[in-house]
Amino acid sequence: MIQKPKGCNDIYGREAKIWKYVESIIDATMEKYNYTYIRTPIFESTELFHRGIGESTDIVTKETYDFVDRGGRNMTLRPEGTAGVCRSYVENKMYGDPNQPVKVYYNGTMYRYERPQSGRDRELTQFGMEVLGSDDPLSDAEVISLAVNIYKMLGLKEIKVNINSLGDKESRDMYRKALIDYFKPHIGELCEDCQTRLEKNPLRILDCKVDADNELLKNAPKTIDYLNDESRRRFETVKDYLDILQIKYEVNPNIVRGLDYYNHTVFEIEAKVEGFGSNNVLGGGGRYNHLCSEIGGPETPCIGFASGIGRLVMALELEKVELPIVEDIDLFLMYVNEDEKKYAAYLAQELRMAGFIVDTEYTGRGLKGQFKQADRLNAKYIAVLNSEDLDNNEIKIKNNKTKEEEIISLDVLIYYLDEKLNTGSEDIDDECSCGGECDGECHCHHHHE
Ligand code: HAM
Repeated sequence: MIQKPKGCNDIYGREAKIWKYVESIIDATMEKYNYTYIRTPIFESTELFHRGIGESTDIVTKETYDFVDRGGRNMTLRPEGTAGVCRSYVENKMYGDPNQPVKVYYNGTMYRYERPQSGRDRELTQFGMEVLGSDDPLSDAEVISLAVNIYKMLGLKEIKVNINSLGDKESRDMYRKALIDYFKPHIGELCEDCQTRLEKNPLRILDCKVDADNELLKNAPKTIDYLNDESRRRFETVKDYLDILQIKYEVNPNIVRGLDYYNHTVFEIEAKVEGFGSNNVLGGGGRYNHLCSEIGGPETPCIGFASGIGRLVMALELEKVELPIVEDIDLFLMYVNEDEKKYAAYLAQELRMAGFIVDTEYTGRGLKGQFKQADRLNAKYIAVLNSEDLDNNEIKIKNNKTKEEEIISLDVLIYYLDEKLNTGSEDIDDECSCGGECDGECHCHHHHE
């Protein structure tokens, strides 16, 4: 039997409904913050990721899916979304639009050749957002608050925001030097990769998976101790705005992120749910003021964030968050003979177009089997089409819960279903304070004559 590739997932059934719901909340929340949707290619030229993410990062050295296309070009399946968005911003000259900053969001599959385990896949889906063209600390705080609010809107409670600052170029250079001085006398205690990282990119030693438990790493110099005054002030302002937005956070000097493009603010958001294990980071991001120029565009200050949807769904399940997933249908149409079937086909289409969730029989089951199928689909109503009723322009319709049955005129079927199916939301009516006086504007379910 042919199997799916290692580290990939089939998402279907109830899980797919959860994904769809999660994505609908992402879209709705992004739009509230006035981010617009962007779609960029799933593969890009290899060079984009090497220059963008950094030659000596794990992602680039070990994890990219690289291929040569039939025209001999070096291509890479995107391991993340930021580099592609920057490429698009530069290539489409979005920087020339007076409407700055450009605020975009995306949702798509990314590819990393990692060792698959729970919460770590080779094909992963990320949603994320990028703000291009603003250096305002308020945009840093807003990106963090947007991420937090998406998790909150979904009902997640146990989340923790960790923030840190890498500072500007001067601060980073001072920090780099401090790291080299610190690690150099202990070079023999580091893994082989880290030994080469020491001169090339000492920051990457700090997120080494092999040396993760090495005491040496834990006691290494911290970025915030090497911030110059300007970077320190900037970090303070970001924190002030987070306080104003009432976003709880902790300054965690161990957050350095695994991609090279960051400066100033970096952050990660963890799920603190029991049972999650080590891959509990729901998402991460930060400021990257030099990526656009690195790939050939103008110097453009940017900040963004991305989050794995797989991990997010896992967190929702572990926290047992109740989600409004629709797992029933409005009406199941049943029939016995060919004429009734034809009418069922016609009626199903009419009712679907009128807004109802309708299904019918497609596998030749007898009536008994069709009743069972209606139960399996959690049909709220069932209708047994019968030639005699149809000749009289009538239909027999049954509430599948109360088993109450009525024969009604086909002419009023839509009104009948509309009324029956919408009375289920009476409790919402009680909560609404409009008392029926809103003319339908507050979208409560009061009946407006
Ligand atoms: P990242 O930290 O590499 O950042 O990935 C962000 C999130 O994607 C992770 O926190 C995790 O939830 C999810 N993720 C990453 N790798 C995997 C995997 N193998 N399996 C499952 N989930 C995974 C970035 O990608 C940056 N582009 C974020 C960013 C946007 N920075 C600025 N703008």
